[in-house]
Amino acid sequence: MVLFTLSISSAAKALALLSITCPSAVAAACTREALLAAANSYIAAQTAGNPSSLALAPTNFTYQENNKPLSIARGVLSQPLKIDLARSTADTTACASYTMLISSTGAKPYVLATQIRHLGNDTSSIALIDTIAATTGSLFFNATKTLGYIRNETWSPLPPESRPSRDLLRKFGDAYLDMWTDAAAADSIAWGTACERVEGSSLTRPCGASLPRGGSKTNNGDRRYVIDETVGSVDVLCSFDALGSLPDSHEIRVEDGRVRYVHTITV
Ligand SMILES: *[C@@H]1O[C@H](CO)[C@@H](O)[C@H](O)[C@H]1NC(C)=O
Ligand SMILES: *[C@@H]1O[C@H](CO)[C@@H](O)[C@H](O)[C@H]1NC(C)=O
Ligand SMILES: *[C@@H]1O[C@H](CO)[C@@H](O)[C@H](O)[C@H]1NC(C)=O
Ligand SMILES: *[C@@H]1O[C@H](CO)[C@@H](O)[C@H](O)[C@H]1NC(C)=O
Repeated sequence: MVLFTLSISSAAKALALLSITCPSAVAAACTREALLAAANSYIAAQTAGNPSSLALAPTNFTYQENNKPLSIARGVLSQPLKIDLARSTADTTACASYTMLISSTGAKPYVLATQIRHLGNDTSSIALIDTIAATTGSLFFNATKTLGYIRNETWSPLPPESRPSRDLLRKFGDAYLDMWTDAAAADSIAWGTACERVEGSSLTRPCGASLPRGGSKTNNGDRRYVIDETVGSVDVLCSFDALGSLPDSHEIRVEDGRVRYVHTITV
């Protein structure tokens, strides 16, 4: 009787060990909650100016700032910022998140656009922190003014019937960045009548007004996407090559098939 109990418990131990060591147990689904929790850990680290609290991948972790790999110790993430506004979106397909962060009152004001990527759907570790860091001198930079506009926006999850598809978000994100090289791109986007465009601190309303229609021969390159159907958003980090290799973030929110907000952060 005693022997039987023992063998059951050692089998259970063996099974438990298996599930710890088996890699498929780690590569679980990439959930929205886990992505947003990782994004929150990034916001906390940026507030403290201390990345040591982050669960960075032990091998092959990359920190990138303004489209260039950089030692994390030399990045903006290693300086404390007083955060006025932080808003994150989650891409469960790519297992990535996007965070917009505004710090307007510190010694050096910042507006940050950060994508975080996890490998193998493993949200327990961060493989890439990819930040566009705009500050004084960046295009139309005024963090106080940007904050005033962004704070007034509504970014709550959309009711299911108002959500755009992943394909539509990707299409609008690409078409937006193609406007400088493709004269037809602007008209391929459905602009909402209440649409607002905040470029740096410059507001255009309605946002479908005064758009570029080709003119440059160089495509905007190195596009990295975070697509969140739940809030209807796409963020694309890129090298804005149409105007000269500028580190750039373009974020678009789509409601009921039409563009509601556009944010650009350009260094
Ligand atoms: C290391 O990271 C880079 C950039 O994120 C990626 O392209 C590469 O595939 C990774 N290598 C391994 C061995 O995971
Ligand atoms: C990650 O999850 C997505 C969606 O659940 C799935 O399509 C994909 O194959 C998974 N990737 C890995 C590497 O497990
Ligand atoms: C930024 O905009 C605010 C509000 O419009 C203005 O009061 C302030 O002087 C501007 N700051 C700079 C550095 O231009
Ligand atoms: C934000 O909304 C408030 C309340 O509706 C309004 O008074 C304020 O002017 C708005 N701010 C901006 C910058 O649009």
